[in-house]
Amino acid sequence: MKIVSGSSNRPLAEKIATHLGLTLTPLEIFIFPDGERRIQVQESVIEEDCIIVQPTNPPVDTNYIELFLIADALKRSGARDITVVMPYVGYQRQDHIFRDGEAVSLEVMVKAIESLGGQKMIAFDLHSIKIPEVFTIPLKHLSALPIFADCIRKQGWTKEETVLVTPDMGGIRRIKILSELLGDMPYLTIIKNRDLATGHVEAEGFGDEISIALSHKKYKRAVIVDDMISSGGTIVKAADLLTENGMEELYTFVTHPIFSAEAAEILQNSVVKKVFVTDGVFIPKEKQFEKLEVLSIADMIANELKSSK
Ligand code: R5P
Repeated sequence: MKIVSGSSNRPLAEKIATHLGLTLTPLEIFIFPDGERRIQVQESVIEEDCIIVQPTNPPVDTNYIELFLIADALKRSGARDITVVMPYVGYQRQDHIFRDGEAVSLEVMVKAIESLGGQKMIAFDLHSIKIPEVFTIPLKHLSALPIFADCIRKQGWTKEETVLVTPDMGGIRRIKILSELLGDMPYLTIIKNRDLATGHVEAEGFGDEISIALSHKKYKRAVIVDDMISSGGTIVKAADLLTENGMEELYTFVTHPIFSAEAAEILQNSVVKKVFVTDGVFIPKEKQFEKLEVLSIADMIANELKSSK
């Protein structure tokens, strides 16, 4: 088995390689002054099962193009099999047509990966359960929820004093799974409204008024769980709504820290006490902040790669 890394998350690729007892296969990624890339595999991969680690968070297009070129270089160098480890899948929110005339961006990306020899993919916490249907190659859909459950247990937060929260109805399946992992920890849902044209988010109220009426009196803390943070709007609006309803301690667990625009600053200045995320997306220094805590998914990926060998 050979493991190569694109440039979107080399630290994660190195951790996965270490868990597998391997070192990264050297790859030259040369960037010309005009931004074009030249990729060269610098070790034999003939008849090898090759793993490419390349989440496609921003810059999404650059990361996808780089992945396509790496896959092409591996295939041309004799790789037998290519598995793409893409914890965060770019364009996953455009997995179908929402408004007439739109492209299905995710399907375009998957087709490209398949046509370049990608035979399997590993992804984490996809935005909707319908997304795997878009894939024409086998997709192993993993989740960070067991890691979040472990972390919540380690904090000593019990179900008697903690309530889980999904900031939108789309997260209901996710919150039910986490609740089960935590021995039926109670949960509540927020009704979110996003303007499809501007992206503006509003947390309009609770899916279940009775549970919030009870929860702010009964529960000491709320744990907001989501698949990704992009602008930070969803988490902050949810946190504000919970605060207005009397909740005092707020935490959030999110798989994909995309942190677009001012998200890091918005989260640091929010009422949320701590933001737990995974290392599936690399967070550059300028987007790190005091309240941030990063949990690793590397050994989960390594175990999956070992078991599917
Ligand atoms: C959308 O439904 C997702 O589950 C996330 O809630 C959303 O993508 C987060 O985006 P933002 O941080 O920009 O509100």
